[in-house]
Amino acid sequence: MAVIAIYSVKGGVGKTTFAVNLAWCSAAISRRTTLLWDLDAAGGAGFMLGIDPKKKRSADEVIARESDPAKLIKSTGYKDLDLLPADDTLRALDRQFDRLGKKKQLAKITGTLGRTYERIIFDCPPVLNETSAQVVRAADLIIVPLPPSPLSSRAFDIVVDEVKEQTKKHPPILPVLSMLDLRRNLHREAREQNPKWPAIPQASAIEQCAVRREPVGAFAPRAAGARGFAQLWTAIERKLAKL
Ligand SMILES: Nc1ncnc2c1ncn2[C@@H]1O[C@H](COP(=O)(O)OP(=O)(O)OP(=O)(O)O)[C@@H](O)[C@H]1O
Ligand SMILES: [Mg+2]
Repeated sequence: MAVIAIYSVKGGVGKTTFAVNLAWCSAAISRRTTLLWDLDAAGGAGFMLGIDPKKKRSADEVIARESDPAKLIKSTGYKDLDLLPADDTLRALDRQFDRLGKKKQLAKITGTLGRTYERIIFDCPPVLNETSAQVVRAADLIIVPLPPSPLSSRAFDIVVDEVKEQTKKHPPILPVLSMLDLRRNLHREAREQNPKWPAIPQASAIEQCAVRREPVGAFAPRAAGARGFAQLWTAIERKLAKL
């Protein structure tokens, strides 16, 4: 079992898009039993998979009261891919972690879920608090989407420093250029400065995920965006195999 967190302190960098598409790659390409856990109260991951939130709100109970996650987990319609959806109750998650005072509460729950799932992928909110500290302690690998700019390396270093501040021992952190458009000079520069980083192209097919409410691989498997996520997933699996 491996836990992969898609994380950044910045908003709008592509976290949810990465989480949904990588979870789909895990299930559809690697045929791994996969759980996508939406930790962001905004609920973008569920939306992107075409799943509407329930009226009864209880996403926090899994963590705060350790109620059985199976009650909340939904199948997505894609084989081997399940979702633990978000709702408004997650807005108070940080305070609940503080109140519980158990530093590895999230890690304990993912440990139990690991009996059912081979891959657990977190879609994280753009925060730096006890919730992100719990995520870091539970994750085997952290993926950081970075929009290309000449300052991408610096932006990545800042995320790494912030993770280090929360916990001394942290899992490997993998930077990935997000929304890369090589027609733009600044993007080309960012690419040249970080030639080894994986990259996901800026692509209308990827943008369409939120409109069609499907992962790009499900409706445009030959599109550059779908290939980008498939390659990134292969790189992630390779990295996990070496851990
Ligand atoms: N590779 C891409 N090509 C085109 N559009 C993209 C790409 N990646 C993300 N987007 C678009 O950028 C916007 C932000 O993406 P997303 O919601 O995944 O970011 P986020 O980091 O999860 O944001 P938040 O911090 O608000 O949760 C969305 O409208 C999404 O469709
Ligand atoms: Mg998001």
